Amino acid sequence: MITDPELIGAARRAALGAYAPYSEFHVGAALVTESGEMLTGSNVENAAYGATICAEANVISTAVAAGARKFSKLAVACVDAIDVESAYPCGNCRQLMNEFGVETVIVTTASGEIRHHTMADLLPHGFNL
Ligand code: THU
Repeated sequence: MITDPELIGAARRAALGAYAPYSEFHVGAALVTESGEMLTGSNVENAAYGATICAEANVISTAVAAGARKFSKLAVACVDAIDVESAYPCGNCRQLMNEFGVETVIVTTASGEIRHHTMADLLPHGFNL
């Protein structure tokens, strides 16, 4: 059983692997799959800014490609955010989380604050088919 501190620690460590030469925002994400496995990812930027992959999108794609389809919890950490709110997942990533049934999102701030959010809180009326 992965604890919240373990998940948050993994997200923070994953941020160290970020490729973020343009924004210098180093973001890490860690999730727990339905089978209890933990996976991590970081943001990967591109000179063509629109090709950037967020940390959350990275870890969700990695997990789905490995066969997982349902994630209970996802933690995101930005190790060097100046504006603490910036560590919140973007709208696109919220929709990605919605697709795979993420229930809880743990957002951490540079100053060490830990905030738990439900998916419904972050994405009310998410799109589903
Ligand atoms: N970013 C993430 O990886 N996740 C978030 O929750 C917010 C933003 C990245 C994308 C880009 O590389 C940088 O942070 C600045 O937007």
